[in-house]
Amino acid sequence: MLDPVRGPYVTTTLENAGLDSGWRVLDVGCGGGFLTATLSDAGYDVIGIDPSMASLREASDHVQAKFAAGAGECLPFPDNSIDAVTCSEVLEHVDDAEAVVGEISRVLRRGGLLVFSLPNRTLLSRLVLIELAQRFWPTRVLPEDLHDWSRFISPVEFHRLATRQGLVIDELHGVGIRPRHLPAAVAALIALRTGRISYATAGSRVQLRLSPVKTIAFIGTARKT
Ligand SMILES: C[S@@+](CC[C@H](N)C(=O)[O-])C[C@H]1O[C@@H](n2cnc3c(N)ncnc32)[C@H](O)[C@@H]1O
Repeated sequence: MLDPVRGPYVTTTLENAGLDSGWRVLDVGCGGGFLTATLSDAGYDVIGIDPSMASLREASDHVQAKFAAGAGECLPFPDNSIDAVTCSEVLEHVDDAEAVVGEISRVLRRGGLLVFSLPNRTLLSRLVLIELAQRFWPTRVLPEDLHDWSRFISPVEFHRLATRQGLVIDELHGVGIRPRHLPAAVAALIALRTGRISYATAGSRVQLRLSPVKTIAFIGTARKT
């Protein structure tokens, strides 16, 4: 559901930074390879890394890219060897986000980019991502144990964490929906829950977009200094 906003953000950011196709991009916590596919389609030499063998099998079945088993806390790459890293919806699932960002910074070349996205830790994100999307029967479209709200990271905390690990935040946007699209978004979740539409269709109906409001989730870019 995030792809309609995340995909264009990531490819435009890399393009604007002058990253030519063929440059080395690492997708940390690639999961089933949705973002890896976008990067591969854009022509980047992309490697997806994830500790879940089931996700890697799923990803390699439908995405033309390299995949490797591994955890973000211990990336199997030399220092300064990667042009850009994407880490999307991953840091809220790891035991040690500081260690993962530290590793990302280590493998990035100087001036290399990290594009990140993650949920904010607010009462509203708890209501939408946990209570509505994981628990409330008519709208629960995510596995009940997918997110642990206490692991969510606020933009301020992420800013401090990135700075400690030698990264400078270049830009930070909220990800959300316009209030007037809320009824359509809830209707899309209910239709998805009852199997009447696919996740892709739900994604287009929910209409996530970049926003100045970071209350639920945020996406941005950092650069290795
Ligand atoms: C919500 S999924 C996001 C997948 C993908 N980035 C996307 O947005 O489509 C979270 C992923 O983080 C992975 N993950 C969990 N712990 C990790 C770790 N320590 N290092 C790297 N990835 C991890 C999980 O296996 C899972 O695939």
